[in-house]
Amino acid sequence: MGAVVEIGDPADPRLGDFVGLTDVARRRRVEPATGLFVAEGEPVVRRALAAGYPLRSLLLDPKRLPLLADVVAATEAPTYAATPAVLAAVTGFNVHRGVLASFARTPPLSVDAVLGPAHRLIVAEGITSTTNLGAILRSAAALGIDGVVLSPDCCDPLYRRCVRVSMGESLRLPIARAVEWPATLTTIVEAGFAVLALTPDPDAAPIEEVLAGLDTEARVALVVGSEGEGLSAGARGAASARVRVPMADGVDSLNVAAAAAIACYLIGRAYPQPP
Ligand SMILES: C[S@@+](CC[C@H](N)C(=O)[O-])C[C@H]1O[C@@H](n2cnc3c(N)ncnc32)[C@H](O)[C@@H]1O
Repeated sequence: MGAVVEIGDPADPRLGDFVGLTDVARRRRVEPATGLFVAEGEPVVRRALAAGYPLRSLLLDPKRLPLLADVVAATEAPTYAATPAVLAAVTGFNVHRGVLASFARTPPLSVDAVLGPAHRLIVAEGITSTTNLGAILRSAAALGIDGVVLSPDCCDPLYRRCVRVSMGESLRLPIARAVEWPATLTTIVEAGFAVLALTPDPDAAPIEEVLAGLDTEARVALVVGSEGEGLSAGARGAASARVRVPMADGVDSLNVAAAAAIACYLIGRAYPQPP
């Protein structure tokens, strides 16, 4: 095992990457500006390493050291060990998993880089809940989506809760953040995707009907909308079709992650193998 530095003072500056993890405003300010993100739990830390993110430091409950012994031995990044009380004082919460790691962000992908090789896209407009975005990305990865485009106002896919809820899939999926909106949707249409705007609107067509009418070679992009207002008029207007998951009478809508999962499943069932 590489050197492990025990730290007993929560104010030790070497733990700076992990300070105030529950202070959303602080982390939103500090993380992108510093170029870091934090992963929590052994499987997610391993996924971040596998995805090629450079490790900045590990912070572990000493009891968890054996779990990551191979990583500690192989990395040149520092490993810090601290008691659960110190971990809680630094981060602001009880770190049940006892495993935290800070990673350096890598340069963001362009929209073109994501569109080029993709066959099945998720496009998220205005998703501000990191829990919802994480759940969307977890399902998307499991159900065959191979690219993600976020509108400019979507939350950060590398925010700790999003990484955790996505089970690390937000680190593995190719994700681009659009700059021009909703013009990027037109770019996606021009790249040859059938752009399906997912909406609970009763006037929209049932998604299975629309999928049945698509060319089996079609590249498909699903656009999902914000938790409150749903898709903007611009996004609905730019789409090739508006589609809905039929619901029982009187129900307003599904949670966006549930709607996205159903739609991804139906696309996978309609076209089992991407072209
Ligand atoms: C909570 S809903 C927004 C509800 C909003 N009142 C509306 O009319 O769109 C958030 C997102 O989930 C997706 N969604 C929810 N229920 C859906 C359904 N039954 N069919 C298709 N998409 C749905 C849509 O993408 C929607 O923008």
